[in-house]
Amino acid sequence: MKAGDGSAEAKRRAGHAAADAVEDGTVVGLGTGSTAAYAIEAIGRAVENGLDVHGVATSAESAQLARESGIPLTTLAAVDGVDLAIDGADQVADGDLIKGGGAAHTREKLIDAAADRFLVVVDDSKLADRLDWPVPVAVLQGAESVVAERLRGLGGEPTLREAERKDGPVVTDDGHLVLDCDFGEIGDPGTLATALSTIPGVVEHGLFVDLADEIYVGSADGVDVLQ
Ligand code: 5RP
Repeated sequence: MKAGDGSAEAKRRAGHAAADAVEDGTVVGLGTGSTAAYAIEAIGRAVENGLDVHGVATSAESAQLARESGIPLTTLAAVDGVDLAIDGADQVADGDLIKGGGAAHTREKLIDAAADRFLVVVDDSKLADRLDWPVPVAVLQGAESVVAERLRGLGGEPTLREAERKDGPVVTDDGHLVLDCDFGEIGDPGTLATALSTIPGVVEHGLFVDLADEIYVGSADGVDVLQ
């Protein structure tokens, strides 16, 4: 499941602009998705030209791309902290995000929240006045029906995410299932985020509230940075 199909050029602009913020000698969180991939490739080119960084990958996909791009990888456990994280989003409203279109939001939230500075990279199709994209909720295998019932109790309509080939459910890198939960327009993301976090069986949800420091928005005209 993916959000608005923005242009590749707008995504590239956002990803490359954010990659310029990576400083020598730092630990960088490497996000997941097509927009973050542009940033990873640009960081890889900077590494080829002598930039000294270590990456912490938010998914198997971003780890693979980092390796192909020549970025040395480390882990959260092996570093004192993450200086900067660059990651995409499915929807952005008033600085809050919905993430998890790539089913990577559990590790994304861990690493993005651990970073001293979290840069979001999106094309302008991702901007909204209010968040209304279905919220991805990662659940323990076997917990999907009880969690779905609790999500309905919060006013949501959950759907178990199916693999594209429809040969079974999506299973995340960490072995969890994903319920995409439609809440319609989310009036108070902070309150909903807290409610979701308290449901037994929920591993992590894709509402990222008050986490982003800067949002790099690529468009046909260039890049705007929202603070
Ligand atoms: C993965 C994510 C991605 O960052 C999000 O889906 C945006 O992806 P893209 O840049 O390809 O539109 O949250 O879990």
